[in-house]
Amino acid sequence: MSSNQLDKKSEAWSALFSEPMSELVKRYTASVFFDKRLWQADIEGSLAHAEMLAAQGIIGPSDYHDIRRGMAQITQEIESGAFEWKLDLEDVHLNIEARLTQLVGDAGKRLHTGRSRNDQVATDVRLWLRGEIDLIGGLLTDLQRALVEVAEKNVEVILPGFTHLQVAQPVSFAHHLLAYVEMFSRDAERFADVRRRTNRLPLGSAALAGTTYPLDRERVARTLGMLDEHGAPAVCQNSLDGVSDRDFAIEFTAAASLCMVHISRFSEELILWMSQNFGFVKIADRFTTGSSIMPQKKNPDVPELARGKTGRVVGHLMGLITLMKGQPLAYNKDNQEDKEPLFDTVDTLTDTLRIFAEMVGGQLNPATGAKEGGLTVNAPAMEAAAQKGYATATDLADYLVKKGLPFRDAHETVAHAVKAATSHNCDLSELPLTVLQGFHPSIEKDVYEVLSLRGSLSARHTLGGTAPAQVRAQIARHRARLG
Ligand code: ARG
Repeated sequence: MSSNQLDKKSEAWSALFSEPMSELVKRYTASVFFDKRLWQADIEGSLAHAEMLAAQGIIGPSDYHDIRRGMAQITQEIESGAFEWKLDLEDVHLNIEARLTQLVGDAGKRLHTGRSRNDQVATDVRLWLRGEIDLIGGLLTDLQRALVEVAEKNVEVILPGFTHLQVAQPVSFAHHLLAYVEMFSRDAERFADVRRRTNRLPLGSAALAGTTYPLDRERVARTLGMLDEHGAPAVCQNSLDGVSDRDFAIEFTAAASLCMVHISRFSEELILWMSQNFGFVKIADRFTTGSSIMPQKKNPDVPELARGKTGRVVGHLMGLITLMKGQPLAYNKDNQEDKEPLFDTVDTLTDTLRIFAEMVGGQLNPATGAKEGGLTVNAPAMEAAAQKGYATATDLADYLVKKGLPFRDAHETVAHAVKAATSHNCDLSELPLTVLQGFHPSIEKDVYEVLSLRGSLSARHTLGGTAPAQVRAQIARHRARLG
């Protein structure tokens, strides 16, 4: 490079090229308009690299000092919006390096010693994603807390549990909500696991084969907080692998897809529950929209969009995994295509988690200290629905088993009872005792407790069952876990 000014990226590799890039190719190959989002990670990685270069005597102390000074100014320029991003400089890395050289001269040109953009970008993406994973962990905790809060108020509220979307057995609404808490807690575990493999340092792999300079990679890993579970520096152990694989991004997107699938299942239920035919819950008006033609409508747009956006995130997973499959070792430009799907996955997931925590749990009113505007539960509608569809038929069969009938015979006997009740257009509990005794003489008066929704609920007291005592124990466990 002949000048202190590096305005065009072609000057970064210069002499070999006999003609400039066409405008179309420049636009096609550039990434700066999306990868500038990595600027903070890029500067953090560069400073850690420069600190190590100075500690190893590869650059002088004054070079390191100048690099820090230049990076501080660049940080301020980017934050204030004064930084001029140039398409000609292709990506975030060359843009920042060029500005650094403009500001501090030779020290800026020494920064790239023992480094390639290949290990630089892999480091940047990992650093950035680590921060986003931490954010997502917090958002998942918020959403679980919101669900637990609503559950706490609805332990005794009964709704029909479904299989095949047919009324099956009565369940506590709290129990139903806690099923989602389980899903989101597993999502949080998955993200924590992905974080371990994301938080490893590629820097020092250089272009692909390592470098001739005496780098101290472990020092850089320590500076960047890339540590394993024992607090030891976590460094990618093979340079070819370090610069080229994006499995951590794929894993992250897979975990995000599963989390969105859980959100999508919950959305589907909210949409059903909000329809006039169920009328089980309401969400606050700010999460719904009206219709431009039908004045009576309030549409559950937020859950519908979340269900729709799940497809988008799953699409990103397919995109990233396909991006990887044909790549020979080591780095290939294909990998530049990892960023937009990853960014969009993070944005979609974080927005969705934030909205859902508020839609379920409501917003804190600072004046009263209470949360307002969360999910509104229509307990009578849920209970009325549970009364239909013979939800306690299994309880009658279990009752007969306790009287000595083999389960299969009890099952058959109850089927006859249900048939009779259906023809009388009434519930099993509305059949007179004499009629019930016609199906089996062992039936006594205590059967009516068994046929009641509450009796049915509290009888299911196996660990993880819907009996209120079990549900309260689960709520206490989640409370302790979520803090
Ligand atoms: N913008 C590139 C990317 O996202 C940076 C690495 C470029 N390396 C290279 N050898 N062209 O992957």
